[in-house]
Amino acid sequence: MAKRIQFSQTGGPDVLEYADMTAEEPKAGEVRVRNHAVGLNFIDIYFRTGLYPAPGLPSGLGTEGAGIVDAVGEGVTHLKEGDRVAYAQGPLGAYAELYVLPAEKAVKLPDAIEFETAAACMLKGLTVQYLLRQTYRLPKGETILFHAAAGGVGSIACQWAKALGVKLIGTVSSPEKAELAIKNGAWATIDYTKENVVERVRELTKGDMVPVVYDSVGKDTWETSLDCLQKRGLMVSFGNASGPVENVNIGILNQKGALYVTRPSLNGYADTRKRLETMSNELFEMLESGKIKVDIAQRYPLEKAGEAQEALASRKTTGSTVLVPSMQQDTQATQDAGRSQDVQAPAEEAPAAQDAGTSQDHASKDSQDQDPRA
Ligand SMILES: NC(=O)c1ccc[n+]([C@@H]2O[C@H](COP(=O)([O-])OP(=O)(O)OC[C@H]3O[C@@H](n4cnc5c(N)ncnc54)[C@H](OP(=O)(O)O)[C@@H]3O)[C@@H](O)[C@H]2O)c1
Repeated sequence: MAKRIQFSQTGGPDVLEYADMTAEEPKAGEVRVRNHAVGLNFIDIYFRTGLYPAPGLPSGLGTEGAGIVDAVGEGVTHLKEGDRVAYAQGPLGAYAELYVLPAEKAVKLPDAIEFETAAACMLKGLTVQYLLRQTYRLPKGETILFHAAAGGVGSIACQWAKALGVKLIGTVSSPEKAELAIKNGAWATIDYTKENVVERVRELTKGDMVPVVYDSVGKDTWETSLDCLQKRGLMVSFGNASGPVENVNIGILNQKGALYVTRPSLNGYADTRKRLETMSNELFEMLESGKIKVDIAQRYPLEKAGEAQEALASRKTTGSTVLVPSMQQDTQATQDAGRSQDVQAPAEEAPAAQDAGTSQDHASKDSQDQDPRA
């Protein structure tokens, strides 16, 4: 019987259960994917803890992965059985061996891109695509501040910024993370555990400060980030790793220099099939050209999803983490024999408003209609 991760109550990692699942047949407009690898994202933690409510309990978890289409619902024309696909915006339930999602949310994966790479970067890489290429169109030579530069999203952002000729100043919490961010193309790093972020930004920019800050940390960094901006600069608040930004008096934007703020999500950008394809193609080109290499620094068997989430939440991870379903572990181990990463180590818009798992009322409605966050 196929397996999935589910939770029946919100809480710590121990609420995650590794359970049997009934493999649903895809309905009209849906496909079923046999997952080869599943992506781990901070947003999965938000759903598990209840910061973002799941549509019902018990619920599946996860929205990102890659695998092979093994069943196709009526009316689906762009995918067929046997196609290699990747996705980042499915309904809750990607932490599973078999996963049903709306076909329009899956894209064909070029042969050159491995399943694990795709699972490790669809959500994170498409997020970087919109952040650096759409939310603020960065000209060559611009200097930006990007928090959590050694994390999953951050590692891709460092490489993409470098490829654009943009000078990325990345915040990190340790010398090891600083080294990694620089290796990935960050222009400079700030270890916020030892340095004053605002003063360092002032120093690095010779007093100019930055036109845009990308902040996924949330509550803890909100005001610091605003203080790093030039007049009329843009604050891009795209995550809540330390908790959500709440109770903001909008007047602070005036006090700190006529600033702009946006709170974007992937689902706000990849909101049509055409836009998803355009963004995915750009990401795939960056991967195929070698301008971006996805660092899968942690791999866990699917059943250890709780451990994986704990490592992510406690800042122990770097780069991306993937979960490998048990059906794939043997194959994967063989494929990975020549690669350097550990099989298991530790040393995020939005998704899904419905559960893709075994529930009888599984709906095919696009999740982002119901939950615009990521
Ligand atoms: N809006 C969107 O479209 C979207 C899409 C994807 C992801 N995201 C957001 O992007 C962020 C990064 O996601 P990710 O999956 O790639 O995670 P990640 O960056 O690999 O991990 C989070 C990192 O945040 C830093 N951090 C700072 N304060 C923290 C705290 N109090 N608790 C935990 N971590 C803290 C840590 O790096 P240091 O130790 O270096 O500080 C940690 O490693 C998340 O906030 C996620 O929600 C948003």
